[in-house]
Amino acid sequence: MSVRDILKMGDPRLLRKAEPVTRFGTRELDTLIEDMFDTMHAANGAGLAAPQIGVNLQLVIFGFKQNPRYPDAPTVPETILINPVLKPLSEELEEGWEGCLSVPGLRGMVPRWTQLHYEGVDQHGKTISRDVDGFHARVVQHECDHLAGILYPMRIKDFSNFGYTDVLFPGLDKDD
Ligand code: NI
Repeated sequence: MSVRDILKMGDPRLLRKAEPVTRFGTRELDTLIEDMFDTMHAANGAGLAAPQIGVNLQLVIFGFKQNPRYPDAPTVPETILINPVLKPLSEELEEGWEGCLSVPGLRGMVPRWTQLHYEGVDQHGKTISRDVDGFHARVVQHECDHLAGILYPMRIKDFSNFGYTDVLFPGLDKDD
């Protein structure tokens, strides 16, 4: 068990473009993924991208059955996604609330594609290819933005929909 420090907004390492993973099935990659799950679970996160712990690789994890930070969100399957490519399946965008472990204590309303195709590989280099919508699509777009150096506040259109979690959602704990 190894919980890593999560970088916070303002750290220039969160603004880099991540490099593709080229070596699979290595002990190094397995350890990194284990640490990312430990770190995400310790923080009650819905997802985590490698750059958030200072590792500049195209690797994200996400998924949960029930998440105290997003109590109304439907289940998202636990996924390790490497070298992802995202494609919208329609032009339709939907606004929804997001938080980020690198932007603690805040939430903002962010437009995302509602219907999404994504592809990539898992830790063994095996292909992942899915069509998703709703919160699943939102989480993937949020996490993959980290690989391009984009944090969700950069996508907010209306800053009257940006604020402190405990003010916006009183009673929602577990968000720091
Ligand atoms: Ni994030």
